[in-house]
Amino acid sequence: MTIATTEIDLSQYPFINKGLEGIVAFSTTKSSVDGQIGELIYGGYNINTLAEKSTFEEVCFLLWEDRLPTQTELDELKIALQTNRELPSQVLDYIRNTNKNAEPMSVLRTAVSMLADFDENLDFKSHVENYRRSIELTAKIPTIIAAFDRVRNGKEIVAPLNSGSTAFNFLYMLNGVQPGEKAEKVLDLCLILHAEHGMNASTFTARAVCSTEADIYSAITGALGSLKGPLHGGANTAVMNLLLDLKKQYSPDPVQFVKDKLARKEKISGFGHRIYKTFDPRASHLQKLSKALAEETGHIELYNWSIAMMETMKSEKNIDPNVDFFSATVYYSMGIMPDLYTAIFALSRISGWAGHFMEQMENNRLIRPKSLFTLEKNMVWTPIADRA
Ligand code: COA
Repeated sequence: MTIATTEIDLSQYPFINKGLEGIVAFSTTKSSVDGQIGELIYGGYNINTLAEKSTFEEVCFLLWEDRLPTQTELDELKIALQTNRELPSQVLDYIRNTNKNAEPMSVLRTAVSMLADFDENLDFKSHVENYRRSIELTAKIPTIIAAFDRVRNGKEIVAPLNSGSTAFNFLYMLNGVQPGEKAEKVLDLCLILHAEHGMNASTFTARAVCSTEADIYSAITGALGSLKGPLHGGANTAVMNLLLDLKKQYSPDPVQFVKDKLARKEKISGFGHRIYKTFDPRASHLQKLSKALAEETGHIELYNWSIAMMETMKSEKNIDPNVDFFSATVYYSMGIMPDLYTAIFALSRISGWAGHFMEQMENNRLIRPKSLFTLEKNMVWTPIADRA
C-alpha cells in the first residue's frame, strides 16, 4: 500500500529531484559538459582539440594532474603504465576458471575487486598511494579484459608487452598479433573520447563510494557495476545487438524498425542523453570513424542503416545519437565482439573515475542525500498468525 505523497507534510520537502537532474553536487576540474551547445572540455581543453592532438596517456595525465605533461612527465607515465600491466597469478587463475559464458563486465568487476587483496598498503590513503593505484588500475584493466576474451574463446592468454601504448598493447593481447598503426590510432581516439564525462552515473557512484573513505578498488568496482547498465555504458553493446537483429531480418528496414520500436514506446539504445540537447561532440568523431572503417571492412550496410536510424530518430523524436551509437560499429569493424564494448568503455573511463576519486578525497564530504518516506508511520504490530 502506497500512501499518496499529498498526505505527507510536503513543506519539509519542496521537491523531489528524481534522477538528481540539474543538481550540482560537486565542483570539479575534470570536465565540463555543455549540453546546449554540444561542448565537452577535459581539464580546460576542448575534446575536439584533444581528439586531434593528444593521446590516451596524455589525457590520463591531464585528468589526474589538471595540466598537460611535459615530455619527460609523459614518458614517465607511459613507463609506469607499461610496467604495471601484469596481473597477480590469483587474478589470472580466477579469469581462467570462471564461467566462460560470464559477461565480460562481470568478470572485469570481480577481477578489479580482487586487485584490492594484493595491495599491501590498502590502509594508506595518501594522494601518492591513490595516484599509484590509479596507474595500476589503468594498466591492468586492459589485461583483464583481453585475458578473459582469450580464455573464453579457448585461446592462450597473451602476456602484456612492457612497451607500446595502451591501445597497441590491448589489441595485441586481444588478438595475439601486433596491430597496425591505423588500428592503434583508431582505438586510441576512442579511448580519448570515452575518458571523462561530467557527473555521469558511474562517476557519481565512484565519488559516493569514495566519500565514505572506502578504497579506490571499492569505488571502481562500484563504478563498473554502474557503467554496465544499458542506460549507461551498456548501451554500446545493445546498439550492436540491435543492428545485428536488423541484419537477421529477411528484408531489413531500419526506418520501420525504429518506428515500430517507438510505437511500442521502447527506448532505442545509443540515442538520447540527460545533458545533450544537441549532437554529442563525441558522436561526431565516432560517426566519421565508423564510416571510414565500415567502407574499409565491408560493413557499409551497417553504417547506412545507422544513418537511416539516426535520421528517423531525429524526425520522429528530435533525439540525436550519443557516444554509444557509432562506437558500436567502430568496434565491430575492428573485429571486436559486441559484448566487449562496455568493458572497452571502462578501459578508458578508469582515467576519469580515478581523477574524480582523487579529487573527492582531497575535499571530501560524505555524500548523503535524503529520501521521502511514503508509507504510514508507527503502524500497529499484528502477530503473524493474525495476518491475512
Ligand atoms: N529512444 C526513444 N525515446 C527516447 C530515448 C531513446 N533512446 N531517449 C529518450 N527518449 C524519450 C523518452 O521516451 C521521453 O519521451 P517522452 O517525453 O515522450 O516520454 C523523452 O525522450 C525523455 O527521456 P528520458 O528517459 O526521461 O530522459 P533521461 O534524461 O532520463 O534519459 C537516457 C537519458 C540516456 C537514459 C535516455 O535517453 C535513454 O534511455 N537512452 C537509451 C540508452 C542509452 O543510449 N544510454 C547511453 C547514454 S550515453
